[in-house]
Amino acid sequence: MNITYKRDLANVDWEEMKATLIKDKFHNGRTAEQLKTSFLNSYSTCIAYVDEEIVGTARVLSDGVCNAYIVDVWTLTEFRHQGIASRMMEILTDELQGQHVYLFSDDTVDFYKKLGFKEQPTGLAKVIGKWLVNKSNLK
Ligand SMILES: CC(C)(COP(=O)(O)OP(=O)(O)OC[C@H]1O[C@@H](n2cnc3c(N)ncnc32)[C@H](O)[C@@H]1OP(=O)(O)O)[C@@H](O)C(=O)NCCC(=O)NCCS
Repeated sequence: MNITYKRDLANVDWEEMKATLIKDKFHNGRTAEQLKTSFLNSYSTCIAYVDEEIVGTARVLSDGVCNAYIVDVWTLTEFRHQGIASRMMEILTDELQGQHVYLFSDDTVDFYKKLGFKEQPTGLAKVIGKWLVNKSNLK
């Protein structure tokens, strides 16, 4: 199996990404345009492909100095347990030297623990206004 890890977003088919996420039940409601905006506005991204098919994503929000947050970590179900998400995390975190990296996980804690992450007590969260309602969906 030929897995490639792409950092360049130039040729990403955002409609395909959205359809795949819906099919794999990991879609959080973003339109294809909002997915594109999310990825383009990230500090760094990694998309895994098998041939031309998107099979994994991960991306980083960071100030480039001290704080980073990792989101959208996902591997297409039939390609799981082959090291794809670990490799994406390795590629992204190698570029975050010296930074405190935070992320949220509910039922995949052990995946991140294997990568050296440690639980930190009490994250706090709030959706401001209505989920996904902002200028990203006025395009
Ligand atoms: C979590 C997820 C990204 C892992 O992707 P993956 O490509 O299968 O991960 P890897 O193959 O690199 O896994 C490496 C190891 O992490 C652990 N691991 C993998 N998935 C796990 C999970 N869901 N829960 C706990 N541990 C997990 C296993 O020990 C695994 O080793 P093994 O395959 O020898 O058992 C994938 O299951 C997924 O997309 N889940 C749905 C989306 C999601 O919950 N993402 C995380 C949001 S915080």
